[in-house]
Amino acid sequence: GASTPDALLEIAVRIAREAAGTARRMRAEAITDVRTKSTDTDVVTAADRAVERQVVDALAAERPGDGVLGEEYGASDSAGAVRWILDPIDGTVNYLYGLPQYAVSLAAEVDGVVVAGVVRNAATGEEWTATLGGGAWRDGRRLSGSVRTGLDQALVATGFGYDPARRAHQGAVLAGLITRVRDIRRLGAAAIDLCLAAEGGVDAYFEKGLNPWDHAAGGLVAAEAGLRVSGLGGAAAGGDMLVAAPPALFDALHDALVELDAAGGP
Ligand code: IPD
Repeated sequence: GASTPDALLEIAVRIAREAAGTARRMRAEAITDVRTKSTDTDVVTAADRAVERQVVDALAAERPGDGVLGEEYGASDSAGAVRWILDPIDGTVNYLYGLPQYAVSLAAEVDGVVVAGVVRNAATGEEWTATLGGGAWRDGRRLSGSVRTGLDQALVATGFGYDPARRAHQGAVLAGLITRVRDIRRLGAAAIDLCLAAEGGVDAYFEKGLNPWDHAAGGLVAAEAGLRVSGLGGAAAGGDMLVAAPPALFDALHDALVELDAAGGP
């Protein structure tokens, strides 16, 4: 099939909706099979694995030859230019507790550039989409981010990794930031945080330690909503740091994060 951003988005949306349905149905049943991954707080449920398997199978049927990078099963090789990046359930801890902030995140990359992405909140059905150059959307409404200016008026979302040493550093950064902003939110799903920033539901978002599947789709949604999405000091957004903020807020948040050494530490 065609590999235009629109064609890839159409597939991503269809598959993400089915996957979100599976996640929701499995949530209604008792969650008994909970294992830990990198640390004792990094959990994975049978649903994470089942949803990833479902998406991988659907992509293989529809787009044989494309590569897939998924959170639970890792990478599969790609014969062509297209690679899919999947977080079957972003916000696994929310999922475990039944807090309605967990999402299927699916993005399509062509030659290493993310060109289409969908984030679907599986609990609420909220769905954010974007294509490269085509804008960011939710329910037919084009998104443009917060118009607030001034870091002291900004509601800033963030998240924490699972490694205790990293968390200690992230806590110290927040101790320095909390007196400079309106408030902080830790909602528990990076993909949703990015989409909220895209629609102005929070003013900005930052996090250290993200993996590609956490930010590939949501990062495109935020960028297409007009936010600046990058690392610190002109670096690309990635594991060291991702900051997403409207242009009028970006520099103030960026400079505060540099001053607080937010990209430093473990
Ligand atoms: C996590 C969530 C969380 C963020 C972590 C991620 P997971 O993803 O997005 O909000 O702070 O960095 O690892 O484990 O729920 O898929």
